[in-house]
Amino acid sequence: MKVNDKIAELVESVEQVPWRDKKATAAFLAQTYYYSRHTTRVLALAGSRFDFDNHNVHQRFIRHCAEEMNHERLADRDLASLGYSLKDFPEFPSTRAFYQTHYHTIEHVSPWSIFGYIVALEGLAVAKGEWLYNEIRQHHGEKAASFMKVHAADDIEHVKEAEKILASLPPGEMKNVEQHLETTCFLYRAMLGEVAACASKGQKIVTFDRHERKKAV
Ligand SMILES: [Fe+2]
Repeated sequence: MKVNDKIAELVESVEQVPWRDKKATAAFLAQTYYYSRHTTRVLALAGSRFDFDNHNVHQRFIRHCAEEMNHERLADRDLASLGYSLKDFPEFPSTRAFYQTHYHTIEHVSPWSIFGYIVALEGLAVAKGEWLYNEIRQHHGEKAASFMKVHAADDIEHVKEAEKILASLPPGEMKNVEQHLETTCFLYRAMLGEVAACASKGQKIVTFDRHERKKAV
């Protein structure tokens, strides 16, 4: 599996959300709140599972965990600036499945597999974070874009760190990382599909599969 192909699919799903639509953007921010409040928990859980031979990886997770503190509050504040609250947007089943799978893979597959999640979301942030920050800022104002602003800037360093670790994974762990990356991408794309479906009438866009898109171009 090529990591870049998976990131390209994520980018495609991000582009298919009508960001000019306030309801779709608000739905995205609410779902971002619901999953990002698990980030510190997921990173702490994974970080506790690395033995003394992997002390640097353990420390990396603890540092990353500290950096993610209170990020869910950014999403909640951005949502409030649009005039909505979390009560307006319950958690989607896809969002729930997205974060629940991290706990499972750490506990029942391997803590290394969580790099699949890190590479997927941070790779997406590097590829499309700034674009999405600008979309939200232009259509809904700076106050609705603080979560994206922080992540478009922060994640570039995280990706560089993660790439170094991926280059020296223990034998057999690459398969676990790839498998979790695939699961993560699938569920995040499902979540974006549910986000797009929240758009107000008339704002929904026609989506093409990749084959149709090629023909249309
Ligand atoms: Fe974050």
